[in-house]
Formats: sequence, structure tokens, C-alpha cells
Amino acid sequence: SRSAGFGTTKVTGLVTAGLFVTTLWNLKFFICYFEMPAKVPRSTIPLTVLLWDWPSHRTLNLSGDICADLYSIQGCQLTDDRGLFDQADVVVFHHQELQQGRTNFPKKRSVPLQKWVWVNLESPTHTRALAGWKNIFNWVMTYRQDSDIFIPYGKLMLHSSTSVDIPDKTGLVSWVISNYHHSQKRAQAYKNLSRHLHMDIFGKASKRPLCETCLLATTSQYKFYLAFENSIHQDYITEKLWRNALLAGTVPVVLGPPRANYEKFIPADSFIHVEDFGSMQELASFIKSMNASHYRQFFEWKKTHKVKLYDDWRERFCTICTRYHTLPKEKLYPDLETWFRT
Ligand SMILES: *[C@@H]1O[C@H](CO)[C@@H](O)[C@H](O)[C@H]1NC(C)=O
Ligand SMILES: *[C@@H]1O[C@H](CO)[C@@H](O)[C@H](O)[C@H]1NC(C)=O
Ligand SMILES: *[C@@H]1O[C@H](CO)[C@@H](O)[C@H](O)[C@H]1NC(C)=O
Repeated sequence: SRSAGFGTTKVTGLVTAGLFVTTLWNLKFFICYFEMPAKVPRSTIPLTVLLWDWPSHRTLNLSGDICADLYSIQGCQLTDDRGLFDQADVVVFHHQELQQGRTNFPKKRSVPLQKWVWVNLESPTHTRALAGWKNIFNWVMTYRQDSDIFIPYGKLMLHSSTSVDIPDKTGLVSWVISNYHHSQKRAQAYKNLSRHLHMDIFGKASKRPLCETCLLATTSQYKFYLAFENSIHQDYITEKLWRNALLAGTVPVVLGPPRANYEKFIPADSFIHVEDFGSMQELASFIKSMNASHYRQFFEWKKTHKVKLYDDWRERFCTICTRYHTLPKEKLYPDLETWFRT
């Protein structure tokens, strides 16, 4: 592996350079404190991030130094106590609760420097009441890569492995679906594909609902998984890909933004895109005719990477602190709807 190539000289060099930088850094603070003690930036003390509402009102335990304890993020205090509004550096507003009405929304920033963050993981198709949020939010936090705080549903992280484990397969294609609507593109795609291929359907919209912990055990038994998004938007790539397919160890057949968008996040040869084929019939025959060696190639990424899911809101909120110092402090979204719908 690449990291084994580091020689002792290089390491010693790095350590020396590290010490030098640390010394400079300490010196900087010394000078700051010495010369202008009144101007010690607020950011040198722990940041306070206030969650105005818990997403879906599902409260999580914030006891202790949660960002440090769970995610090794230092100097970041998360709180859901609105009584701390006046001392919060950042206040976070989750859109789903804003949709319910604005009566409880604070009238104004407690201090001019306080930053207000808009959070949303749903796509524009499933986001209501976006109008009128003008010059209110400083930063946005969504699944879109161009957000101030980018919160994907998952990612591949470096992880070397000597063997590639693929779970045993008993079926060809599965799909887990909770909300089936005939008008959705994914429903039409499924219907068209089902004329050429047998697929096993699970979830609330089917005759076979799955318990929360049965999902991965089920999808992993199939060679392919329909990672069909509920709506098609740039970067809108959800747990259907990351969890239900990649983490489970099955090959995703994706329907969502164009292939090039997926390839920003996962290798080109790790998935099948519905649009790779001229028709559903061609897709079906590709799936049916695949041999074992070709199939294994879809899992090449497992030699160098593993799936990291982001499924705890606390982790997402803690990342605000890691981004805080580099984000533009004067930023304000003139019109949230325009930003999110374009
Ligand atoms: C919350 O976490 C703290 C520290 O980890 C623990 O002592 C406490 O029992 C937890 N509270 C609840 C309600 O789970
Ligand atoms: C499904 O098939 C119909 C009829 O052939 C076609 O018009 C439509 O574009 C197809 N939709 C999808 C998503 O494959
Ligand atoms: C498996 O399929 C691939 C791609 O279609 C093909 O190139 C290869 O020759 C096949 N291998 C075997 C052993 O049939």
C-alpha cells in the first residue's frame, strides 16, 4: 500500500516541520494575547450550536461533550435548549419543522455575529413552503455539494482490504419501496422493467414489509438492487444507494441524476445506470446474462474503500463546527427558494 512507502527520513522531516509549525502557532497566540487581550476571537472558546428543532422531533442524547465523545470534534457544544439562544454562535433550522409554520421562528439574531443555518435533506420535489425566506439564512446545509455545509447521505472512504467479500446470493433483483406512486419515474421504470425481468419487492408499499434491521440482510441476498430515487435532482443520491445497495454488498441499478453526477461520488464501474441502456429490455438482458467474473468487477472498490453512512443527525450538526471557521461570515441568502430550486 502507498502509506508503507514513507521512509524514516521523511517521517523525521515531517515531525520537525510539525514542531516548527506548532511553535509558530503558539507564538501567534502569545503575541495576540499579549498585544490585544480584548480582541481574543470568540472562536477560540467552544462554539455553541443551537438546534432550534430536532428533525422530525426525534430527540437524541446530547449529554457530555457529544461531538468530542462520538466524532472526535473538539470545541463544539450542541444544545437543543432555546434558553441558550442569546449565547449561540450558530442556530440551526431544519426545514421540515419550518414548514409547519413560522410562529415560533425567532424575530431576530440575538447578536449580529450569530449565524443561522438552513438544513434540509429532502429534494426540492418534496420540500414545501420555501417562499419568503429572504435574507434570513447565512448558510445552507443540504445533500447538495455546493452547500456551505455539505451533508451527503454517505460516502466512500479509504480503507484497504486484502479480500473482497461479496455476500452469498439467492436472488437476482430486489427493491424496497415505501411510497409507490404511479406518476413517479421510478414506478414507471419498475413497471417497464418488470415486463422483462422478475424482481422481488419488499417494503411498506408491497405485500412484504421489512423490519428496520431486516433490510440489509434481505437486499444483500440479491445480486442487484434498484436504487431508484423518489425524484431526480442534482446530487440527490440517498441511502438507497449508500445503505441499501453498497453497504449491503449488492450492485446498485440507479435511477436518479445523470451517470456523471454519480461518478463524482463512486467509481464508474461500481454501479449500473438505467440510462446506460436504450431500453428496459436491454437492461434486463444485461442483468440476466451477467457471468460471475463480470459481476465481481463491480466490487473492485472494496479493495481500497469502504462505505461510511451519515445517519446520525448529531454527526451532521457537529460538522458545522469543523466548517465554521472557513465559511464566509458576511454571507446571506437573498432568496432561499431561488437557490434551492435552481
Ligand atoms: C445520555 O448520555 C449520557 C452520557 O453518555 C448518559 O450518562 C445518560 O444516561 C444518557 N441519557 C439517556 C436518557 O440516555
Ligand atoms: C416506460 O415505457 C413507456 C412505454 O414504452 C415509455 O413511454 C416510458 O418512457 C418508459 N419509462 C421509463 C421510466 O422507462
Ligand atoms: C463474462 O462476461 C464478460 C463481459 O460480457 C466477457 O467479456 C467474458 O468473456 C465473460 N467470461 C466468461 C468466463 O464467460
